[in-house]
Amino acid sequence: MIDSIKSMSNYIDAYQKSIQEPEIFWSEVAAQFVWERNWDSVLKWNFQTADIKWFEGAKCNITANCIDRFALTMPDKKAIIWEGNDLNTGSKSLTFKELQIEVSKFSNVLKGLGVKKGDRVAIYLPMLMEGAIAMLSCARIGAIHTVIFAGFSAQSITDRVNDCDPKVIITSDSMVRGEKKINLKKIIDESISQTPQVKHCIVLNRGDEDINMNHGKDHWWHELMHEASSNCEPENMNAEDPLFILYTSGSTGKPKGVLHTVAGYMVYVGYTFANVFNIQKDDIFWCTADIGWITGHSYSLYGSLLNGITTVFFEGIPTYPDHGRFWDIIDKHHVTIFYTAPTAIRALESFGTSVFSSKKLSSLRVLGSVGEPINEEAWHWYHKNVGKGNCPIVDTWWQTETGGILISPIANITPLIPAFATLPLPGIQPMLVDENGVEIMGNEVEGNLCIKFPWPGMARSLYKNHHRFLETYFSIYPSLYFTGDGCKRNKDGYYRITGRVDDVINVSGHRIGTGEVEDAIEAHSNVVECAVVGYNHDIKGQAIYAYLICLDKTVDVKVLKNEIDKIVSDKIGVFSRPEQIQIVDGLPKTRSGKIMRRILRKIAEDDYANLGDVSTLLDASVVDQIILGKTKKISQS
Ligand code: WT7
Repeated sequence: MIDSIKSMSNYIDAYQKSIQEPEIFWSEVAAQFVWERNWDSVLKWNFQTADIKWFEGAKCNITANCIDRFALTMPDKKAIIWEGNDLNTGSKSLTFKELQIEVSKFSNVLKGLGVKKGDRVAIYLPMLMEGAIAMLSCARIGAIHTVIFAGFSAQSITDRVNDCDPKVIITSDSMVRGEKKINLKKIIDESISQTPQVKHCIVLNRGDEDINMNHGKDHWWHELMHEASSNCEPENMNAEDPLFILYTSGSTGKPKGVLHTVAGYMVYVGYTFANVFNIQKDDIFWCTADIGWITGHSYSLYGSLLNGITTVFFEGIPTYPDHGRFWDIIDKHHVTIFYTAPTAIRALESFGTSVFSSKKLSSLRVLGSVGEPINEEAWHWYHKNVGKGNCPIVDTWWQTETGGILISPIANITPLIPAFATLPLPGIQPMLVDENGVEIMGNEVEGNLCIKFPWPGMARSLYKNHHRFLETYFSIYPSLYFTGDGCKRNKDGYYRITGRVDDVINVSGHRIGTGEVEDAIEAHSNVVECAVVGYNHDIKGQAIYAYLICLDKTVDVKVLKNEIDKIVSDKIGVFSRPEQIQIVDGLPKTRSGKIMRRILRKIAEDDYANLGDVSTLLDASVVDQIILGKTKKISQS
């Protein structure tokens, strides 16, 4: 376990040291990991070129740190507990020793298929033990994993595969979530016909689905594992070798392949896990995030294992077989730390509190929230009903690009304020800037959130596109990392994240780019042009509202909505479907042709009185027409 902060004065000291002597601070943290060779320099950086190097010269393997050292010192401790979707599937677990054996075997499977250090491997799996084994095996042999969330469509898989050229894809015959069963292999087959670079597909038998196995290309997981040796030494990786690529959405263009590297990510994720959650050695940690997202990578998997802590993987959904499932799992596995998203809390809140009378929840010590701003009401509901009033809630703010948590309370140490991510963790230097990039000093202020100094867990690049990395994150405000979030700082210097200030929409904690959804919708033959915005939604946080200019305006809107849902599901995934659509005559554009989404957002939220300045619009009458259309739409429905 990594040393952690024990008091507020400890935090202040650590923070001061991390700012004044960052290299000494981080080398002391790093010294608690296992290295094959020590670093020559702790940090080299240049935000003008977006070149960041931590622990250069060092050699290590993250799986030696996550698995091997604990397989030696506490072989029988559970590393991962898996809970199946169906009650009758029950649960399974792997000890650190067993995990070492499984990972070594699967590492040999990958090697046997010709996967070498630096090769990419795509993983399209639901929350199964094998997802963890696959990721860790890649890391063990130095292959770069790219996990594709199992809710993405064939087209999305194709886009990602064509960007990073994996040799191997790993999937399962089926995925079960609640009462739904989805044939994942079929989706992979659709994609693989367009991605000839994929040489092998490894298929896990999850549900005895009748699937088509392509001779020579498709292999059953269990057959390959049956023959594999359980000895595989971890590859000696350079500190700055890539560990994984994870695709995420931005304001414009195709998803970005965020690249994280071995040593910095390991040190940062291990450190933040131990600190934020105030980890004790017998903790049972459960993060409900899927391994397809960064939270699943950093805290369901790497962060907990790096500290030798048992982590829970849950295959299902919070409402199956009933809305008490989360609480039953906490009681069943004596979960001590529970980390979930506000959208899940709000969804469960809507069922009321009677469910809690039959649940104990007495094992819980710490609660966490992640992925989107948590509203005060949900915070209090979570605190009172789940935490029984005596578990701190850590509202952790971070991003795919940051690798780990940047602003968050430290459990049991930082005084909490509902809906505030509170204070930066040691090593993190936040800064608020105005639209011109001028720093906003002092307290009781609001601005755009930037970070002015590197931290070990930050992304190093976008895969094969360093230029876009530089442009997206370091050029809007030169020499600062720009997060894309708006943020307030209160009188005590506490931070409250207010949400994205760019064209990224956060639906149920899923990050969705407006541009991607617009491209998908515009593929509909009746749609000439469209604009998509996010608006406040009671449960999802935000939902998508799409304004469409159509060739045939007399079309039945319900039929059109179904067709658009299908297109968006096929091109991106079900979670990106618009909640509402509206056919309009025109879109509010500036004289230079830019759509003013700010106005469309206000209209979607029925906030007609605060549209702001419309004088720069080419044709301001469009706005009145849209409002009229919307009020008509509401009165008709
Ligand atoms: C965006 C990043 C962090 C892992 C999961 C999402 C929003 C994240 C919070 C929070 C308010 C939050 C931000 C951020 N966000 N955590 N605690 N409070 N907003 O990772 O998909 O890369 O999305 O999620 O807007 O920029 P992601």
